[in-house]
Amino acid sequence: MTLLDRTTATLPAAWYYDPAQYARELEAVWHRDWVCVGRLEDLPEPGDYFLADVGSERLVVTRDRDGRPRAFHNTCRHRGSTLCTESRGRFAGGRIVCPYHAWSYGLSGELLATPKMKLPSDFRREDYPLYAVNIDTWGGFLFVNLSGQPATSLAEFLGGEARNVERWPLASLVSVRREVTTLACNWKVFWENYSECYHCPGIHPELCRVMPLYREGVLSYADSREAPPGAAGDLRPRVAPGFVTWTLDGLTRLPLIEGPSDADRAPGVVFASFTASLFVVAHPDYVRSVRILPRGPERVELTVDWLLPPGVAEAHPGDIERMCELGRRVVAQDGRVCELNQQGLRSQRHRAGVLMPQEQSLHEFHEWLRSRLKEVP
Ligand code: FES
Ligand code: FE
Repeated sequence: MTLLDRTTATLPAAWYYDPAQYARELEAVWHRDWVCVGRLEDLPEPGDYFLADVGSERLVVTRDRDGRPRAFHNTCRHRGSTLCTESRGRFAGGRIVCPYHAWSYGLSGELLATPKMKLPSDFRREDYPLYAVNIDTWGGFLFVNLSGQPATSLAEFLGGEARNVERWPLASLVSVRREVTTLACNWKVFWENYSECYHCPGIHPELCRVMPLYREGVLSYADSREAPPGAAGDLRPRVAPGFVTWTLDGLTRLPLIEGPSDADRAPGVVFASFTASLFVVAHPDYVRSVRILPRGPERVELTVDWLLPPGVAEAHPGDIERMCELGRRVVAQDGRVCELNQQGLRSQRHRAGVLMPQEQSLHEFHEWLRSRLKEVP
């Protein structure tokens, strides 16, 4: 990464709280891109479902009779009632039944029955399936795309970042801990904070003990005063010598995950970032994923999962807290500064901020967002 060498402004402060700007960003990003809404393991059986809100759209995510994931708008084709109200459950008899006039739909969205209703002579059931949403999976993560015709496949969208963690068996891992938090900040505030380490020395003392590079406030040895401690030319951030993973003492009592090579494991941490709904942090012994969904101009929901191979949590019940502790502290520390950032942005004197060299990645994020906004009318 090159560092910014010119004074560069941030996005306008109002973009972090103005409802009209929020609506534009839903259109330009959240209603157009592939967005992660959960894990396949959240739907163990056909007919299991959960609700997911993406931007202003409310979705039902389920598995059809063949086990394939499906997503629909949570809206009945009759007169538009909400179909499902419980946040998760199982459709009895494999039918999705509207609570208003009891139209029922199959798990593939087909309209099955319109009870007690005299049908117009030209009414064709096949014309009224549920509103389907594109859905696909990667590494056990479920992604939806709300645009009628996605500009890219999920694989293209994930791109090279997915390769960073390709040897971790993500699809077979199971979530052994899930923590959901809502922060009082705009989604961009959280994503920006994730994208820079300028704040690390002051905000993350425990993480900086594990990751010496972060004490310099940078994310790559390309930007460091120190020589990279790993193999020649390997500029990736890495844990301190003798440490193996992200725990408070840098050590683990869990078995190493099979799949990654020794070279993959050597840094102790590998990132894969999928702007702006998911990042995956893979360690030799566990994987942490963070999902991000906007919940309003000044609210963002985070879902953190700690993932392990099946059976490991049962075999090591006393070590799970230990595995979670560092990540949990980091998320809490980031959450606090994100909320402080949001509050300060509201000052009528503050029109925009200024980026420091270590915040080059924010500039790239801002340029990306501006170009996305130009693509919608
Ligand atoms: Fe769903 Fe009438 S609105 S059956
Ligand atoms: Fe942080």
